[in-house]
Amino acid sequence: MLSVPIKKLNNGMPIPCIGMGTFGSDRYTPLQVSEAVRGAIKYGYRLFDCASVYGNEDLIGHVFDEAIKNGEVKREDLVITSKVWNDMHGKGDVLLSCARTLRDLRLDYIDIYFVHWPFPNYHAPGCDGDARNPDSRPFFTEEFMAAWRQMEKLADMGLVRSIAMSNMTIPKLEQVLPLCRIQPAAIEMELHPAFQQPELFDYCMNKGIQPIGFCPIGSPDRPERDVAPGDVTVTQMPVIAEIAGAHGVHPAIVCLKWAVQRGQIPIPFSIRPDNYESNLRCVTEDPLSDDEMARIAAADKNCRLVKGQVFLWEGAADWRALWDEDGRICGWNN
Ligand SMILES: NC(=O)c1ccc[n+]([C@@H]2O[C@H](COP(=O)([O-])OP(=O)(O)OC[C@H]3O[C@@H](n4cnc5c(N)ncnc54)[C@H](OP(=O)(O)O)[C@@H]3O)[C@@H](O)[C@H]2O)c1
Repeated sequence: MLSVPIKKLNNGMPIPCIGMGTFGSDRYTPLQVSEAVRGAIKYGYRLFDCASVYGNEDLIGHVFDEAIKNGEVKREDLVITSKVWNDMHGKGDVLLSCARTLRDLRLDYIDIYFVHWPFPNYHAPGCDGDARNPDSRPFFTEEFMAAWRQMEKLADMGLVRSIAMSNMTIPKLEQVLPLCRIQPAAIEMELHPAFQQPELFDYCMNKGIQPIGFCPIGSPDRPERDVAPGDVTVTQMPVIAEIAGAHGVHPAIVCLKWAVQRGQIPIPFSIRPDNYESNLRCVTEDPLSDDEMARIAAADKNCRLVKGQVFLWEGAADWRALWDEDGRICGWNN
């Protein structure tokens, strides 16, 4: 079994320094994804990033159940995350959503439960990039905190070990962190060499909140709605390709080594055993040098790939309104 480095969250919970994503990007069936989870457990993965909106928790739950019953893995050695989707932020809904996920994943508790997005705006599964929901609205602190209070209750009840946020910005965190009775243990955010989010990354690290990096390879198979002109192909960035050549590995591997050495926890997705095996193995051997780390840091392109435009509300200018880029939370008219 590979010896994957373990980190500790701010509540003392141990967590592997790399995990596996389970979003099939509207391209892979739930069965393909759950079979990848089965193979990944066998290979040594212990951290799995799930979400109710990925539409595959029931099949993945079946795999967890079998692996635990077969004695392949102990429940306490797994770190299983899930996320409450945007249409389940209302009174009682977060509790309900958690209960459904527990049923689907066949678990007594979830290790980390995330608020998937900080507002209750949702899109139909598989919708195209221009789709808008007329009920969408900007972020409101009170609404978010009403959902967070339910997250805190889930933690009190022992149904989730850690609670966490996703797709946050510094202005939103500045609003909500002082109001949280239980601080988030982690924040999931897009992080790869072309989108390093240094300010948000440092902000979280300074507050003892663990950044978990999604799309760590630049999500080459992401849904069409998330592909825009000008998007950088991370694995083709010259510095990544050069370093990959020097180490004799695929550029994806350089992205993952960089992520782990920087301190975020990447959660790469693959259904191909050769790829997901090398993704785990790479963090146990042949680290990048300080010079290589510095060259990647200098190559940041500030290129967000998951722009979230399907969550925009009426009156919002464009997707940048979701990300508070001028340092204040965007309201109805930006
Ligand atoms: N919180 C959020 O809002 C949010 C948003 C997006 C994603 N996520 C999470 O983050 C996870 C990862 O993001 P992602 O799936 O979008 O993108 P990703 O992990 O950056 O990229 C996945 C792609 O990389 C390829 N790949 C993986 N390992 C490889 C290797 N060793 N060599 C070559 N290619 C490789 C895979 O292709 P093959 O299958 O061909 O190997 C797959 O197409 C998701 O599954 C999900 O759990 C969370």
